[in-house]
Amino acid sequence: MAVDMVLKDGIFIENGRETVRSVAIEARKIEGIYKHGDEPRHRDSIDCRGLYILPGLIDIHVHLRDLKESDKEDYETGTMAAAAGGVTTVVDMPNSDPPVLDKKTLDEKIARARELRYVNVGFYSGISSIIEKFDVQMIRDILGLKVYPHAPLDEDTKYTRERIRECTRLAVASDLPLLFHPDLPASMKAPKNMEEFFLAHSCEDEVKSVQSFIDAKVEYEARLHVCHVSCATTARLIQENRAEDTLTAEVTPHHLFLSGGDFPHDDGLAKMLPPLRSPYDNKMLMEGLRQTCAIDCVASDHAPHKKWEKTAPFLKASSGIPGLETTLPLMLTEVFEKRLPWIDYLRVCSSAPARILGLETKGILTPGYDADIVLARIQEGTITGENFFSKAKITPFEGRRVLARVITTIVGGVVVFDNDEFVTGPGIAGKVPVQKS
Ligand code: DOR
Ligand code: ZN
Ligand code: ZN
Repeated sequence: MAVDMVLKDGIFIENGRETVRSVAIEARKIEGIYKHGDEPRHRDSIDCRGLYILPGLIDIHVHLRDLKESDKEDYETGTMAAAAGGVTTVVDMPNSDPPVLDKKTLDEKIARARELRYVNVGFYSGISSIIEKFDVQMIRDILGLKVYPHAPLDEDTKYTRERIRECTRLAVASDLPLLFHPDLPASMKAPKNMEEFFLAHSCEDEVKSVQSFIDAKVEYEARLHVCHVSCATTARLIQENRAEDTLTAEVTPHHLFLSGGDFPHDDGLAKMLPPLRSPYDNKMLMEGLRQTCAIDCVASDHAPHKKWEKTAPFLKASSGIPGLETTLPLMLTEVFEKRLPWIDYLRVCSSAPARILGLETKGILTPGYDADIVLARIQEGTITGENFFSKAKITPFEGRRVLARVITTIVGGVVVFDNDEFVTGPGIAGKVPVQKS
């Protein structure tokens, strides 16, 4: 019997070392990994000589907007950006317009994403102010519950100690992780100056927020995931409370590689929440990711905004930057410049995010797992926002030299993106919604 496809003679990472292997794909799954000459008969093949065969990235923190904010991004452009960036699974945040607080909105997002997707799309739900309103019918279609103490999705909500405990209990009862944006409820209205902005989103507040969620997690034995850790002090607190399956954390490439001083202070293009911190924080976050196990994975926090919202002066600008098309080149550059071993790259970009969300057949290239694969090569280039498939084209990484390029992206055994072009239409490859295995 012939298999569907063989990716032939690529550079394949086995036990952290580069080898030459062929990857066979059958019925959307990886059928086997073969040495040169041992490949099974196949209907189709791709010559992968000189190309790395890597698991597609799993980005567990993206904002694909759509619905009333389709002018910022929709499921088509957002998942095209993912595929072009070597990201084969994205998980969409609930702070959309309207926010995901009920099944109707969740179903609308699922229907749109199903029609327009180029990659696998999973979802999170928020939690409305009246916790009893949570519709348990949503559980099978979401991968976690996400809360924003500094800017609740349901405006009346106050993130008191009791509210955090309620959310934690709901996550336990739903058998889902509780994800949170670590920051404290705003004590003042819109900041009038830069000092007020940074004071309202300080490292001290990030640490206090994480501590309050850890207290509730311990009380109810919940699974807690800390979004976009930005401070060395927060990484240390997480490390001290480290628990492999029940306390996990992510870091964004911008908090790893950029610091506040890299940009003019009144420039809105690098405004995000949490804000960029110091070079010391960059260093300790990378250490947290590589060595101390404080941080499990990388996630982009892809947060598209319109051009005028990013070119506005800092205080008026919107927070957030596009990230789906920059994570892989930036992280592979760390590998190629010998700052990140392969084994860590594979863990932080693919296998750990799959593990955090319980995606048991994703994140590793091994028989029986989903054929979500990226073929990439070493190639020098510069990040250029104009070339993004995302509607958001302003990036603080503009002009940065990178050493890696995505050549082909395969989602569930289907070649979606190849040599800068989309070779399948929307709504064909990928699963929507991604569900726990
Ligand atoms: O910078 C950010 N942008 N941080 C967030 O937490 C939300 C995001 C957005 O949705 O724009
Ligand atoms: Zn956030
Ligand atoms: Zn976010």
